[in-house]
Amino acid sequence: MAVAGRGKGEPMKWDVDPKLEPSSEAMRELGHRVVELIVENLQTLSDRAVSRTGTRAALERALGESAPRLPRSPDAVLEQVRDVVLENMIHVDHPRNFGFVPGPSNYVGAVADFLASGFNVFAGTWLEGSGAAQVELVTLGWLKQWCGFPTRASGVFVSGGSQANLTALMVARQDKLPDGPGRGVWYQSSQTHSSIGRAFRVLGFRQDQSRRIEVDSQFRISLDALSRAVASDRRGGDEPFVVVANAGSTNTGAVDPLVELRRFCDRENLWLHVDGAYGAAAAVSPLHATLFEGMGSADSLSLDPHKWLYQPYGLGCALVRDGALLTKHYAVHPEYLQDVAASDEEVNFCDRGIELSRGFRALKLWLTVQLFGLDNIRAAIVNGVVLAEHAEACLRERARFEVTSRAQLAIVSFRYLPRHHPDINAFQLALSRAVIEDGFALVSSTVLEGKTVLRMCTINPRTSGDDIERTIERVETIANRLDRVDGQP
Ligand SMILES: Cc1ncc(COP(=O)(O)O)c(C=O)c1O
Repeated sequence: MAVAGRGKGEPMKWDVDPKLEPSSEAMRELGHRVVELIVENLQTLSDRAVSRTGTRAALERALGESAPRLPRSPDAVLEQVRDVVLENMIHVDHPRNFGFVPGPSNYVGAVADFLASGFNVFAGTWLEGSGAAQVELVTLGWLKQWCGFPTRASGVFVSGGSQANLTALMVARQDKLPDGPGRGVWYQSSQTHSSIGRAFRVLGFRQDQSRRIEVDSQFRISLDALSRAVASDRRGGDEPFVVVANAGSTNTGAVDPLVELRRFCDRENLWLHVDGAYGAAAAVSPLHATLFEGMGSADSLSLDPHKWLYQPYGLGCALVRDGALLTKHYAVHPEYLQDVAASDEEVNFCDRGIELSRGFRALKLWLTVQLFGLDNIRAAIVNGVVLAEHAEACLRERARFEVTSRAQLAIVSFRYLPRHHPDINAFQLALSRAVIEDGFALVSSTVLEGKTVLRMCTINPRTSGDDIERTIERVETIANRLDRVDGQP
């Protein structure tokens, strides 16, 4: 069977040689077929299951061949990719995938990735990619503006939020602790993402150099507890140096009190890093910008356009308020790169992070904004926030659901209160597993203050109010089924 595409049913002509350059006709045909696969997938997503997970044994049977000595037919290989590789996954862009942080992505971003790799743009230095560097500067300028950062701030696109946090925190360490981790201590709330701890591990800190600060009833860091912890550490001879704040925590969408944290950090001479990987994108929406008051005064900020700015994976961003610091702490000038030295007005992005060879990541965000316009992106963000509020309202109408954190920045968490099952936490885990297996929708679980809860993240612009209602109905039906009289889900 030929894979969907122009000339459906006819096998593709594929004569290749060691130049590794197919005929122009074959290149076009292969491209068309791939475009067809992508479009077909997007058009049929809603009618298909959200996820399927293959067993290792089945996938080895289907994919475990040795490397072919001779070219295989593109039809057969694309079929294998479509039916095995791309079927065994959570469709993170599915309108009823509410698990973890969905990856809605968008077609324009995907096309931009193809374009950037088709030209194999080297976006490490101005000499090798001045056009790309300028697009990166422009796109970073937009992000700075949306997040309230000054024009003198600088930034760099990286692979995702984890790398953005690492990139920024390395600058914080170099700036505040130039002699190395020593007795440096960092502060984060109990709701901070695990990529922060991992970044500090990579940066040479021990676990006991971190302080996990309690949160208030809205899951925001407690300033009193933070202030007590800093004072106590100073008395004990430690060296507080950075506070990591959330602008949209992964669990509940909470935004820490950024204005107050800025004041506190100024008083205490601490670096303020804001992890906005999940939520900061919502600052693009004028309706929600006030939630992020103070974000622009952070010393550094990480963002993740591959989440709520609808980009395909592989796009995070680190911004540093004092623009010169990124280059100060990352730039290296080996002799074999003397030809690419940048003049004052040129930017070598390889000097703003750890990657020398780097792809043209900025293109996807730039092209997305160009082709959809900011108003549509803003409306999509607002839609995401409203959908979580709708989900909360639907949950509150049903007696057996308890809302455990109100809808905030497109995240709502809840749990089902079983009648018969004695272990309420174990019940939620069993419920999320059963929902995933059912495939109609995907809702993941987390733990809030010791309670296991379910969580919906509603950032996908393909999601409708009806998707929300039918998902909650389905979760309730599955939960009722699990909540058997014998107490065994
Ligand atoms: C708040 C927050 N920070 C950091 C990350 C890590 O981002 P990435 O998965 O892009 O590395 C995430 C991921 O969900 C997140 O929600």
